[in-house]
Amino acid sequence: MPGVVLVGAQWGDEGKGKATDLLGSRVDYVVKFNGGNNAGHTVVIDDEKYALHLLPSGILSPGVVPVIANGVVVDIEVLFEELDALIARGVDVSRLLVSGSAHIIAPYHRTIDKVTERFLGKRRIGTTGRGIGPAYADKTNRVGIRMWDLFDEKILRAKIEGSLDQKNHLLVKVYNRRAITVDETLDELLQYADRLRPMVTDTAVELNKALDAGKNVLFEAGQATMLDIDHGTYPFVTSSSATAGGAVTGSGVGPTRIDSVIGVIKAYTTRVGEGPFPTELFDDKGEFLRKTGGEYGVTTGRARRTGWYDAVIARYATRINGLTDIVLTKLDVLTGMEKVPVCVAYDVDGVRYDEMPTDQTAFHHAKPIYEELDGWWEDISRARSFEDLPKNAQAYVHALEAMSGTRISAIGVGPKRDEIIPVHDLIHTR
Ligand code: GDP
Ligand code: IMO
Ligand code: MG
Repeated sequence: MPGVVLVGAQWGDEGKGKATDLLGSRVDYVVKFNGGNNAGHTVVIDDEKYALHLLPSGILSPGVVPVIANGVVVDIEVLFEELDALIARGVDVSRLLVSGSAHIIAPYHRTIDKVTERFLGKRRIGTTGRGIGPAYADKTNRVGIRMWDLFDEKILRAKIEGSLDQKNHLLVKVYNRRAITVDETLDELLQYADRLRPMVTDTAVELNKALDAGKNVLFEAGQATMLDIDHGTYPFVTSSSATAGGAVTGSGVGPTRIDSVIGVIKAYTTRVGEGPFPTELFDDKGEFLRKTGGEYGVTTGRARRTGWYDAVIARYATRINGLTDIVLTKLDVLTGMEKVPVCVAYDVDGVRYDEMPTDQTAFHHAKPIYEELDGWWEDISRARSFEDLPKNAQAYVHALEAMSGTRISAIGVGPKRDEIIPVHDLIHTR
């Protein structure tokens, strides 16, 4: 013990990669438990920038055992591309463990992701096109292929046949694409088997043993609360459990092993892809946040939609995840504003909502009710203690803390590793 879960509290890209890296030297294992290479985490170490998609951000910390757990969907080609890129930069990746129960993203999942989006037209989700949804659909539909299957050619062939059977009808008859053959998929997947073999194991056993031995295990979510398949803004969500509960089912440790849950929250809000976003800005203030915050996707390069901080979402994330701590990131981006609006509640067709309306129509109609806080002009990127912050920035943090109902335990004031203000220890037992 302890087991620490780290989740995104908004619509992703809150700075989870940096927060994980911050804890890197103090944890023994970093576990990715959901999603796949739809994630994009940026970690900046000594002016060197790393972009990680499928690998847990903890892979950059020397000595840490990175784990891709059973809840993840793995595009094996991407896995090796990312590993090779890190090896070329001198990163030791030899400790990586991959769960045999993790599902595989096959080439046809990527194809189906793209054609489905095109077919949806204006109802599209704006997915990353990485095959995430179709791979999880196969998992739930019980026609998925798991890592273990790669090591038994007969089973693998049978599973590919089972998976392609219906899909080829769909691809040819509905989407007007060519059929995918069993042999091409088999060859593609089998070529990775030898290199994968030594990494693939029962990671649930490994993690439970580590916790028994008193090791620190960090469970790092991809995506975020508002993109969670159950608790997000459905249907504009990803296809996995990105909230704290996902850490348990997605890795095979029991809920009693989790000691704390860290929510990473930006000092404003961003979203990539389609779907409702009450505090979204369409004016020069939104453009200011995008430019100053460098809000362009790490995975797809898309410009992120930007808006003010939404305390209703912060409260919701606190509740859904059982947050014990918040890491507030990108406070530096707000420097130079006269007033900083914060959404404290919604007006839904004339009715005030202090808590998240989870009915899709109500959330689509939600208009933010703002409280305006005083801004600050001083450069805060060199602040290393809370007292170094200008009074108005301190008041902004205190106000956010009071509205979210969770203590703010660290404050990001820049992208670099040391550009952070520690407030409370992030690794603690209950
Ligand atoms: P993730 O998906 O949650 O890991 O976040 P991303 O890496 O996609 O996006 C967060 C971006 O913000 C990255 O470019 C980080 O380098 C950057 N970042 C993280 N924390 C801070 C911070 O406190 N201040 C600033 N200015 N940038 C930050
Ligand atoms: P990280 O881990 C932001 C969004 C996509 C799309 C929706 C569904 O970097 O925070 P998918 O390809 O998952 O089926 O797309 O989810 N999305 C993300 N947005 N950050 C992410 O990851 C995201 N992963 C998926 O833009 O709207
Ligand atoms: Mg990201």
